[in-house]
Amino acid sequence: MGNEMIRLFRPTFDVEGCLAELKDCLEEGWTGPGFKTDRLEEEWKAYTGLANAYYVNSCTAALNLSFDVLKQCDGWQDGDEVITTPITFVSSNHAILLAGLKPVFADVDDTLCLDPKDVEKKITDRTKAVLFVGISGNPGHYREILDLCRRYHLRLVVDAAHMSGTKVNGSFPCGEADAVDFSFHTFKTLATADSGMLCFKDPEHEKIARIRAWSGINTAAYSDYAIRDHKTYKWHYDVEYVSNCYNGNSLMAAVALAQLRNLDKSIAYRAQLASRYDAAFSKVPDKIRLPEFPADCTPSRCHYQIIVEDRDGLVKYLNEHHINSGVHYVDNTNYRMYAYAHGTCPKAEYISEHVISLPMHMKLTAEEVDTVIQAVLDFVNQ
Ligand SMILES: Cc1ncc(COP(=O)(O)O)c(C=O)c1O
Repeated sequence: MGNEMIRLFRPTFDVEGCLAELKDCLEEGWTGPGFKTDRLEEEWKAYTGLANAYYVNSCTAALNLSFDVLKQCDGWQDGDEVITTPITFVSSNHAILLAGLKPVFADVDDTLCLDPKDVEKKITDRTKAVLFVGISGNPGHYREILDLCRRYHLRLVVDAAHMSGTKVNGSFPCGEADAVDFSFHTFKTLATADSGMLCFKDPEHEKIARIRAWSGINTAAYSDYAIRDHKTYKWHYDVEYVSNCYNGNSLMAAVALAQLRNLDKSIAYRAQLASRYDAAFSKVPDKIRLPEFPADCTPSRCHYQIIVEDRDGLVKYLNEHHINSGVHYVDNTNYRMYAYAHGTCPKAEYISEHVISLPMHMKLTAEEVDTVIQAVLDFVNQ
């Protein structure tokens, strides 16, 4: 085994494609919102089949806007509840808190996503929405969660940070949700540097989001300062909301446009690598468990996860053998901020201590996957 680390993530770019799109922006003299962001939004709608798309500077921005806008439009009160998962990146749950709402944690199931049975148990008179997170691109039991939301008249927000390109029977599986939030962060399957897409079902929600995304300024959103309107630049505007700066820009959109052209290829390659891991690990089910995925699902797979008894030992062993690994995620109720819910989600607690992510990216070779597999098997069999 050589001394070079096998990396956990490695963003891969179509360099010539990215440079051509970036050159357009620099020659046109426009790097801000509008221009490439408009094109990316159109292409994203065509790719996902979603009705609306608004390009923002991160998935965190999309999540914050989703809850701000739904709270405003539906008249939710401070302290109203959103049912959410402990197995996620903290910005999912921070978005609920930042909107003045209360995260109520439900447990996960064998897909590592929300368990619909536990979600139903956590519904109260103050529940307004459910936040579903598709871990590793897995749609889990999204359909049952959607049914629950319809039955109890709850909004459904999908944190699709890991789901760019996930398909079930050839289509994006979460299109009926009220808001779907994607990440184009550098470690995601569609990598830029930082950016994301906010896809509301209701175009009225998107209209408000566009105002809230630029400090609450109520000009016709960005169109007044977009490149093609330069001659009609208007300085006068009113300010309707206290808000943040969440806009995406044309430079990042240029990179995203080039990356989108390769997204299906990336997902197909990741599926091949995942099958190689699956074939080896499924032979030792008493030592290694794999998350469940729905039938006919091609997940986006920004991570490849397994569940083992001695996770911390395996992380150390892999490091000693020049293999990077990761943990996605620590149970959020272990963090001081969310400790009020600690002990309410036993399965998530177990996952948090036993899950490990193994290398998964476009530059990873089949031989490197075999090296990782061998190291994992040597560790669990010792
Ligand atoms: C599940 C999940 N949600 C939200 C985010 C936030 O994404 P971004 O970095 O684009 O803000 C991430 C990023 O790691 C994530 O993994």
